[in-house]
Amino acid sequence: MVASIAKLKVEDLKVAYGDKQVIHGISYEIPPNEIFGVIGPAQSGKTSMLRVINRTIEFTPNAKVSGKIEIDGEDAFRMKDVYGYRRRIGMVAPLPVGLPLTIYDNVAFAPRSFGMKDKDQLDALVQKCLEQAALWDEVKDRLDSLGTKLSGGQQQRLTIARALSHQPEVLCLDEFSIAIDPVTTMKIEDVLKELRESMTIILVTNLVQQARRLAKRTMFLLNGELVEEGDTEKMFSGDADNPKTNEFVSGAFG
Ligand SMILES: Nc1ncnc2c1ncn2[C@@H]1O[C@H](COP(=O)(O)OP(=O)(O)O)[C@@H](O)[C@H]1O
Ligand SMILES: [Mg+2]
Repeated sequence: MVASIAKLKVEDLKVAYGDKQVIHGISYEIPPNEIFGVIGPAQSGKTSMLRVINRTIEFTPNAKVSGKIEIDGEDAFRMKDVYGYRRRIGMVAPLPVGLPLTIYDNVAFAPRSFGMKDKDQLDALVQKCLEQAALWDEVKDRLDSLGTKLSGGQQQRLTIARALSHQPEVLCLDEFSIAIDPVTTMKIEDVLKELRESMTIILVTNLVQQARRLAKRTMFLLNGELVEEGDTEKMFSGDADNPKTNEFVSGAFG
């Protein structure tokens, strides 16, 4: 059952680049404080969907979007303050994108640009975000060294800390574990279990079992079509509504 007030509601979302349609009208709702899993092979439209949700698809001139997205019941596409809106949505890309800055400044960058100047306040926020990303203990003695000198797994956690520095309500993760080792992946999965207490998480994952471990509900996207969306356990139990889902989650796909 979906709670009556959705954190995010997507209605008949369609996306095309030029005349190539890549999302064919998908609808779903995500209740607050849940991890919502998104699975599907490459080119299914997963990243495009996230870029619609945080409204960065508007940077792509030939992208055409129709349908509706509501956040807390408000129409996201009609919000005049796009920057204010984007701050409410955190985004973690598949590969860590560190700014060529110190560890501290990577996390302080966004809050400073929103006007936070007080050193104690910034220090506290940087520490909180690094703690939430399970990176604080490893970097607290070298906050002044370059973020790009960290290991891949640490950089991905730094990316998460940066996403959290906006204090987002919705955190989108796009295949965050594609370039990191299983131990770091598990560490970040634990982080996500903590974070869902305070935010709504959209977990696009290349590891279908990761959706099973973390997501209450999961959506299976295939070639821009929503094949199935529902209770994760049901989808993974071999009892999915659509045979294609059973095939995909059991790894028999393609
Ligand atoms: N900027 C773009 N211009 C044209 N086509 C694009 C662009 N971005 C993505 N696509 C196409 O849209 C389809 C969906 O891509 P994407 O959203 O990245 O899917 P996924 O994340 O599931 O791999 C693919 O066919 C891809 O080539
Ligand atoms: Mg993608």
